[in-house]
Amino acid sequence: MSNLKIHHIGYLVKKMEQAKKTFESLGYQVEQDTVYDHIRKVDICFLNKDGYRVELVSPASPDSVVAGLIKKYKNTPYHICYETDDYEAAFAKLRADGFLPTESLTPTPAPALGGRSVIFLVSAAIGMIELIAD
Ligand code: NI
Repeated sequence: MSNLKIHHIGYLVKKMEQAKKTFESLGYQVEQDTVYDHIRKVDICFLNKDGYRVELVSPASPDSVVAGLIKKYKNTPYHICYETDDYEAAFAKLRADGFLPTESLTPTPAPALGGRSVIFLVSAAIGMIELIAD
């Protein structure tokens, strides 16, 4: 068993400020205010409630990585992100279990995570997950 721990739930939103205010009205607190991810062309904000971390992801330009997703799904949770103490083993296990990398075959920096690297993978059974690589 690879040792995966949930880091956050990724939540796609059309309008960052409205989404943030609405989550705040539900009792969430902003953990890290909006950061622009220039690699994926999205704005990202982290909120927390009861130990659950939610990542709001909003497209910042028409060619952002979530442009297609947001057209199809609108405002919705769309990935769970995991961290692990052994990235190579976790990645190998996920690949063996049928998860396929999406954006890139190797981890890429995530500016909203302080430069930690992440990789996105898709499973035919459960959709997209994110794995923090370092
Ligand atoms: Ni994420």
